[in-house]
Amino acid sequence: LQSGALSRIEEASDADALEALRIEYLGKQGSISALMKTLGKMSPEERQEQAPKIQGARTAVADAIAARKAQFEAEELESKLASERLDLTLPAPQAPRGSVHPVSQVMDELAEIFADLGFSVATGPEIEDDWHNFTALNMAETHPARAMHDTFYFPDRDADGNRMLLRTHTSPVQIRSMVANGAPIRIIAPGRVYRSDSDATHTPMFHQIEGLVIDRDINLGHLKWTLETFLKAFFERDDIVLRLRPSYFPFTEPSVEVDVGWKDVNGRRVLGGDGDAPGHGWMELLGSGMVNRRVIEFAGLDPDEWQGFAFGVGVDRLAMLKYGMDDLRAFFDGDQRWLDHYGFSP
Ligand code: PHE
Repeated sequence: LQSGALSRIEEASDADALEALRIEYLGKQGSISALMKTLGKMSPEERQEQAPKIQGARTAVADAIAARKAQFEAEELESKLASERLDLTLPAPQAPRGSVHPVSQVMDELAEIFADLGFSVATGPEIEDDWHNFTALNMAETHPARAMHDTFYFPDRDADGNRMLLRTHTSPVQIRSMVANGAPIRIIAPGRVYRSDSDATHTPMFHQIEGLVIDRDINLGHLKWTLETFLKAFFERDDIVLRLRPSYFPFTEPSVEVDVGWKDVNGRRVLGGDGDAPGHGWMELLGSGMVNRRVIEFAGLDPDEWQGFAFGVGVDRLAMLKYGMDDLRAFFDGDQRWLDHYGFSP
Protein backbone atom coordinates (compact mmCIF):
# COMPACT_ATOMS: atom_id res chain seq x y z
CA LEU A 1 0.00 0.00 0.00
CA GLN A 2 2.66 2.43 1.07
CA SER A 3 4.87 2.12 -1.99
CA GLY A 4 1.84 2.23 -4.31
CA ALA A 5 0.69 5.44 -2.61
CA LEU A 6 4.11 7.01 -2.80
CA SER A 7 4.51 6.42 -6.49
CA ARG A 8 1.00 7.73 -7.24
CA ILE A 9 1.82 10.86 -5.23
CA GLU A 10 5.01 11.26 -7.21
CA GLU A 11 3.05 11.04 -10.47
CA ALA A 12 0.17 13.35 -9.43
CA SER A 13 -0.15 15.91 -12.22
CA ASP A 14 -1.46 18.86 -10.24
CA ALA A 15 -2.67 20.11 -6.86
CA ASP A 16 -6.21 18.82 -7.46
CA ALA A 17 -5.03 15.30 -8.21
CA LEU A 18 -2.83 15.45 -5.10
CA GLU A 19 -5.78 16.49 -2.93
CA ALA A 20 -7.81 13.56 -4.30
CA LEU A 21 -5.00 11.19 -3.23
CA ARG A 22 -4.85 12.76 0.21
CA ILE A 23 -8.55 12.04 0.67
CA GLU A 24 -8.16 8.52 -0.71
CA TYR A 25 -5.45 7.60 1.80
CA LEU A 26 -5.70 9.92 4.78
CA GLY A 27 -9.30 11.18 4.66
CA LYS A 28 -11.90 9.97 7.17
CA GLN A 29 -12.85 7.10 4.85
CA GLY A 30 -9.31 6.75 3.53
CA SER A 31 -7.54 3.38 3.33
CA ILE A 32 -4.77 4.26 5.79
CA SER A 33 -7.34 5.68 8.19
CA ALA A 34 -9.23 2.40 7.87
CA LEU A 35 -6.07 0.49 8.79
CA MET A 36 -5.60 2.71 11.84
CA LYS A 37 -9.07 1.74 13.00
CA THR A 38 -8.21 -1.97 12.85
CA LEU A 39 -5.56 -1.46 15.56
CA GLY A 40 -8.27 -1.24 18.24
CA LYS A 41 -9.49 -4.73 17.53
CA MET A 42 -6.08 -6.33 17.60
CA SER A 43 -4.52 -8.30 20.40
CA PRO A 44 -1.84 -6.36 22.25
CA GLU A 45 0.96 -8.41 20.69
CA GLU A 46 -0.40 -7.98 17.19
CA ARG A 47 -0.95 -4.27 17.78
CA GLN A 48 2.62 -3.85 19.01
CA GLU A 49 3.79 -5.33 15.76
CA GLN A 50 1.38 -3.58 13.37
CA ALA A 51 1.10 -0.12 14.90
CA PRO A 52 4.60 1.12 13.93
CA LYS A 53 4.12 -0.10 10.36
CA ILE A 54 0.74 1.55 9.92
CA GLN A 55 1.80 4.80 11.61
CA GLY A 56 5.02 4.76 9.60
CA ALA A 57 2.99 4.40 6.40
CA ARG A 58 0.71 7.26 7.44
CA THR A 59 3.64 9.54 8.19
CA ALA A 60 5.42 8.61 4.96
CA VAL A 61 2.32 9.31 2.85
CA ALA A 62 1.56 12.59 4.67
CA ASP A 63 5.17 13.76 4.23
CA ALA A 64 5.16 12.81 0.55
CA ILE A 65 1.94 14.73 -0.02
CA ALA A 66 3.32 17.82 1.79
CA ALA A 67 6.54 17.67 -0.21
CA ARG A 68 4.72 17.32 -3.53
CA LYS A 69 2.40 20.19 -2.57
CA ALA A 70 5.36 22.46 -1.82
CA GLN A 71 6.76 21.52 -5.21
CA PHE A 72 3.53 22.50 -6.96
CA GLU A 73 3.45 25.84 -5.13
CA ALA A 74 7.04 26.59 -6.04
CA GLU A 75 6.34 25.79 -9.70
CA GLU A 76 3.29 28.04 -9.70
CA LEU A 77 5.32 30.92 -8.24
CA GLU A 78 8.05 30.37 -10.84
CA SER A 79 5.62 30.55 -13.72
CA LYS A 80 3.93 33.64 -12.23
CA LEU A 81 7.28 35.37 -11.92
CA ALA A 82 8.12 34.44 -15.50
CA SER A 83 4.82 35.62 -16.99
CA GLU A 84 4.32 38.76 -14.87
CA ARG A 85 7.80 40.18 -15.13
CA LEU A 86 7.88 44.01 -15.37
CA ASP A 87 9.75 45.56 -18.24
CA LEU A 88 11.31 48.56 -16.57
CA THR A 89 12.57 49.88 -19.87
CA LEU A 90 9.01 50.51 -21.17
CA PRO A 91 8.14 54.24 -21.24
CA ALA A 92 5.72 55.18 -18.43
CA PRO A 93 2.28 56.39 -19.53
CA GLN A 94 2.23 60.20 -19.57
CA ALA A 95 -0.05 61.78 -16.95
CA PRO A 96 -1.64 65.00 -18.23
CA ARG A 97 0.34 68.00 -17.04
CA GLY A 98 -1.02 71.38 -16.06
CA SER A 99 0.61 74.64 -17.04
CA VAL A 100 1.25 77.99 -15.37
CA HIS A 101 -1.39 80.54 -16.39
CA PRO A 102 0.07 83.63 -18.08
CA VAL A 103 -1.28 85.79 -15.23
CA SER A 104 0.59 83.75 -12.63
CA GLN A 105 3.66 83.78 -14.83
CA VAL A 106 3.60 87.58 -15.10
CA MET A 107 3.02 87.98 -11.35
CA ASP A 108 6.08 85.79 -10.71
CA GLU A 109 8.16 87.78 -13.19
CA LEU A 110 7.12 91.06 -11.56
CA ALA A 111 7.84 89.80 -8.06
CA GLU A 112 11.33 88.91 -9.24
CA ILE A 113 11.96 92.22 -10.98
CA PHE A 114 10.80 94.20 -7.95
CA ALA A 115 12.71 91.96 -5.55
CA ASP A 116 15.86 93.11 -7.36
CA LEU A 117 14.78 96.71 -6.66
CA GLY A 118 14.33 95.94 -2.95
CA PHE A 119 10.54 95.54 -2.84
CA SER A 120 8.87 92.86 -0.75
CA VAL A 121 5.42 91.37 -1.40
CA ALA A 122 2.36 92.37 0.67
CA THR A 123 -1.23 91.12 0.47
CA GLY A 124 -4.70 92.21 1.55
CA PRO A 125 -8.25 90.83 1.50
CA GLU A 126 -10.37 90.69 -1.66
CA ILE A 127 -13.48 91.28 0.45
CA GLU A 128 -12.66 94.75 1.68
CA ASP A 129 -14.44 97.43 3.66
CA ASP A 130 -15.48 100.80 2.39
CA TRP A 131 -12.95 102.62 4.56
CA HIS A 132 -9.83 100.85 3.21
CA ASN A 133 -11.03 100.75 -0.41
CA PHE A 134 -12.31 104.36 -0.59
CA THR A 135 -12.42 106.61 2.46
CA ALA A 136 -8.80 106.26 3.59
CA LEU A 137 -7.76 106.74 -0.04
CA ASN A 138 -9.33 110.20 0.09
CA MET A 139 -12.63 109.20 -1.47
CA ALA A 140 -15.35 110.26 0.95
CA GLU A 141 -18.90 108.77 0.72
CA THR A 142 -19.92 111.46 -1.70
CA HIS A 143 -16.76 111.54 -3.79
CA PRO A 144 -17.62 111.38 -7.52
CA ALA A 145 -14.58 109.12 -8.22
CA ARG A 146 -16.39 106.30 -6.42
CA ALA A 147 -18.91 106.16 -9.25
CA MET A 148 -16.11 105.39 -11.73
CA HIS A 149 -15.29 102.15 -9.95
CA ASP A 150 -18.48 100.16 -10.79
CA THR A 151 -18.26 98.55 -7.38
CA PHE A 152 -19.73 95.20 -6.37
CA TYR A 153 -21.20 95.88 -2.91
CA PHE A 154 -22.39 93.25 -0.42
CA PRO A 155 -25.96 93.75 0.79
CA ASP A 156 -25.03 93.57 4.50
CA ARG A 157 -22.63 95.61 6.62
CA ASP A 158 -20.02 94.02 8.89
CA ALA A 159 -20.24 93.98 12.72
CA ASP A 160 -18.87 97.55 12.96
CA GLY A 161 -21.38 98.86 10.44
CA ASN A 162 -18.81 99.04 7.60
CA ARG A 163 -20.09 98.61 4.11
CA MET A 164 -18.36 95.59 2.55
CA LEU A 165 -17.38 95.25 -1.09
CA LEU A 166 -15.12 93.40 -3.51
CA ARG A 167 -12.03 95.59 -3.67
CA THR A 168 -12.00 97.62 -6.88
CA HIS A 169 -8.22 98.02 -6.83
CA THR A 170 -5.16 96.90 -4.87
CA SER A 171 -4.71 100.39 -3.39
CA PRO A 172 -6.33 99.46 -0.02
CA VAL A 173 -3.16 97.40 0.58
CA GLN A 174 -1.29 100.74 0.69
CA ILE A 175 -3.38 101.70 3.72
CA ARG A 176 -3.12 98.30 5.38
CA SER A 177 0.62 98.22 4.99
CA MET A 178 1.18 101.76 6.34
CA VAL A 179 -1.16 101.10 9.30
CA ALA A 180 0.45 97.74 10.09
CA ASN A 181 4.13 98.54 9.54
CA GLY A 182 4.59 102.31 9.56
CA ALA A 183 7.37 103.79 7.43
CA PRO A 184 9.69 103.42 5.56
CA ILE A 185 7.96 101.06 3.10
CA ARG A 186 8.89 99.45 -0.18
CA ILE A 187 6.27 96.88 -1.25
CA ILE A 188 4.35 95.48 -4.16
CA ALA A 189 0.91 93.94 -3.64
CA PRO A 190 -0.37 91.62 -6.37
CA GLY A 191 -3.94 90.34 -6.43
CA ARG A 192 -7.44 90.09 -7.84
CA VAL A 193 -9.70 93.09 -8.12
CA TYR A 194 -13.33 93.42 -9.22
CA ARG A 195 -15.38 95.85 -11.25
CA SER A 196 -18.68 95.48 -13.02
CA ASP A 197 -17.31 95.92 -16.53
CA SER A 198 -16.75 93.66 -19.56
CA ASP A 199 -15.38 94.00 -23.12
CA ALA A 200 -12.26 92.90 -25.03
CA THR A 201 -9.96 94.69 -22.59
CA HIS A 202 -12.11 94.59 -19.39
CA THR A 203 -13.36 91.66 -17.32
CA PRO A 204 -15.34 91.83 -14.04
CA MET A 205 -12.39 90.25 -12.23
CA PHE A 206 -8.86 91.21 -13.20
CA HIS A 207 -5.41 91.49 -11.64
CA GLN A 208 -3.34 94.40 -10.44
CA ILE A 209 -0.01 94.91 -8.80
CA GLU A 210 0.18 97.82 -6.43
CA GLY A 211 3.48 99.45 -5.66
CA LEU A 212 4.19 101.69 -2.69
CA VAL A 213 7.35 103.46 -1.60
CA ILE A 214 7.29 105.67 1.48
CA ASP A 215 10.42 107.32 2.81
CA ARG A 216 11.79 110.72 3.80
CA ASP A 217 13.07 111.94 0.42
CA ILE A 218 11.01 110.44 -2.37
CA ASN A 219 10.09 112.48 -5.43
CA LEU A 220 8.49 112.10 -8.86
CA GLY A 221 11.86 111.29 -10.42
CA HIS A 222 12.08 108.12 -8.34
CA LEU A 223 8.64 107.12 -9.61
CA LYS A 224 9.54 107.69 -13.25
CA TRP A 225 12.82 105.80 -12.94
CA THR A 226 11.16 102.89 -11.17
CA LEU A 227 8.40 102.55 -13.78
CA GLU A 228 10.80 102.77 -16.73
CA THR A 229 13.20 100.32 -15.16
CA PHE A 230 10.56 97.75 -14.37
CA LEU A 231 8.79 98.00 -17.74
CA LYS A 232 12.03 97.63 -19.67
CA ALA A 233 13.01 94.66 -17.54
CA PHE A 234 9.57 93.13 -17.94
CA PHE A 235 9.37 93.51 -21.73
CA GLU A 236 13.06 92.67 -22.01
CA ARG A 237 13.72 95.52 -24.42
CA ASP A 238 14.97 99.10 -24.30
CA ASP A 239 13.01 100.32 -27.30
CA ILE A 240 9.50 100.19 -25.84
CA VAL A 241 7.73 103.52 -25.92
CA LEU A 242 6.10 104.87 -22.77
CA ARG A 243 3.69 107.79 -22.62
CA LEU A 244 3.26 109.58 -19.30
CA ARG A 245 0.08 111.64 -19.05
CA PRO A 246 -0.91 114.01 -16.27
CA SER A 247 -3.98 112.56 -14.63
CA TYR A 248 -6.08 112.57 -11.49
CA PHE A 249 -6.55 110.09 -8.68
CA PRO A 250 -7.94 111.21 -5.31
CA PHE A 251 -5.12 109.33 -3.53
CA THR A 252 -2.17 110.76 -5.47
CA GLU A 253 -1.07 114.31 -6.14
CA PRO A 254 0.26 114.87 -8.71
CA SER A 255 -0.99 111.83 -10.66
CA VAL A 256 0.49 110.23 -13.74
CA GLU A 257 -1.00 107.64 -16.08
CA VAL A 258 1.33 105.51 -18.15
CA ASP A 259 0.54 104.00 -21.55
CA VAL A 260 2.78 101.67 -23.47
CA GLY A 261 2.94 101.72 -27.27
CA TRP A 262 2.20 98.65 -29.37
CA LYS A 263 4.80 99.93 -31.84
CA ASP A 264 8.39 101.02 -31.52
CA VAL A 265 9.71 104.43 -32.60
CA ASN A 266 9.83 103.23 -36.24
CA GLY A 267 6.20 102.16 -36.30
CA ARG A 268 6.93 98.43 -36.18
CA ARG A 269 4.63 96.44 -33.96
CA VAL A 270 6.74 95.14 -31.09
CA LEU A 271 4.16 94.19 -28.45
CA GLY A 272 0.92 92.22 -28.41
CA GLY A 273 -0.46 89.80 -30.98
CA ASP A 274 -0.68 89.92 -34.76
CA GLY A 275 -4.23 91.28 -34.91
CA ASP A 276 -5.23 94.93 -35.07
CA ALA A 277 -4.34 96.61 -31.82
CA PRO A 278 -7.41 97.96 -30.02
CA GLY A 279 -7.33 101.69 -29.44
CA HIS A 280 -4.87 103.78 -31.35
CA GLY A 281 -1.64 101.95 -30.75
CA TRP A 282 -1.44 102.71 -27.02
CA MET A 283 -2.55 100.60 -24.13
CA GLU A 284 -3.19 102.14 -20.74
CA LEU A 285 -1.09 100.16 -18.30
CA LEU A 286 -0.99 101.86 -15.00
CA GLY A 287 -1.98 104.71 -12.75
CA SER A 288 0.51 106.30 -10.41
CA GLY A 289 1.53 109.42 -8.56
CA MET A 290 2.91 110.89 -5.38
CA VAL A 291 0.87 109.64 -2.42
CA ASN A 292 -1.58 112.34 -1.37
CA ARG A 293 -0.67 113.69 2.06
CA ARG A 294 -4.25 113.18 3.18
CA VAL A 295 -3.78 109.42 2.56
CA ILE A 296 -0.58 109.38 4.63
CA GLU A 297 -2.52 111.10 7.41
CA PHE A 298 -5.44 108.66 7.15
CA ALA A 299 -2.96 105.80 7.55
CA GLY A 300 -1.61 107.36 10.76
CA LEU A 301 1.75 108.72 9.52
CA ASP A 302 3.05 112.29 9.63
CA PRO A 303 2.96 113.69 6.06
CA ASP A 304 5.55 116.34 6.98
CA GLU A 305 8.05 113.58 7.68
CA TRP A 306 7.01 110.87 5.19
CA GLN A 307 6.13 110.99 1.54
CA GLY A 308 6.34 108.64 -1.38
CA PHE A 309 4.90 107.32 -4.61
CA ALA A 310 2.39 104.63 -5.52
CA PHE A 311 1.33 102.88 -8.68
CA GLY A 312 -1.23 100.30 -9.75
CA VAL A 313 -0.53 98.14 -12.82
CA GLY A 314 -2.93 95.95 -14.80
CA VAL A 315 -1.26 92.53 -14.74
CA ASP A 316 -3.54 90.98 -17.38
CA ARG A 317 -2.72 93.79 -19.77
CA LEU A 318 0.99 93.28 -19.24
CA ALA A 319 0.49 89.61 -20.10
CA MET A 320 -1.51 90.46 -23.25
CA LEU A 321 1.21 92.77 -24.46
CA LYS A 322 4.16 90.54 -23.69
CA TYR A 323 2.67 87.23 -24.81
CA GLY A 324 0.49 88.41 -27.67
CA MET A 325 -3.16 87.84 -26.76
CA ASP A 326 -5.75 90.20 -28.19
CA ASP A 327 -8.81 89.38 -26.10
CA LEU A 328 -8.67 89.60 -22.31
CA ARG A 329 -11.87 87.59 -21.85
CA ALA A 330 -10.11 84.38 -23.02
CA PHE A 331 -7.88 84.62 -19.92
CA PHE A 332 -10.70 83.46 -17.70
CA ASP A 333 -12.67 81.06 -19.95
CA GLY A 334 -10.60 78.03 -18.88
CA ASP A 335 -10.45 76.77 -22.48
CA GLN A 336 -7.94 73.90 -22.42
CA ARG A 337 -6.62 74.68 -25.91
CA TRP A 338 -5.92 78.30 -24.91
CA LEU A 339 -4.21 77.15 -21.70
CA ASP A 340 -2.10 74.61 -23.62
CA HIS A 341 -1.10 77.29 -26.09
CA TYR A 342 -0.35 80.21 -23.76
CA GLY A 343 0.49 78.36 -20.53
CA PHE A 344 4.06 77.99 -19.25
CA SER A 345 5.64 74.74 -18.17
CA PRO A 346 6.05 74.70 -14.40
N1 PHE B 1 -5.84 102.28 -7.98
C1 PHE B 1 -5.76 102.91 -9.28
C2 PHE B 1 -6.68 102.19 -10.24
O1 PHE B 1 -7.05 101.09 -9.98
C3 PHE B 1 -4.37 102.89 -9.82
C4 PHE B 1 -3.44 103.69 -8.98
C5 PHE B 1 -2.71 103.08 -7.97
C6 PHE B 1 -3.25 105.04 -9.21
C7 PHE B 1 -1.82 103.84 -7.23
C8 PHE B 1 -2.36 105.79 -8.48
C9 PHE B 1 -1.65 105.18 -7.48
O2 PHE B 1 -7.04 102.72 -11.27
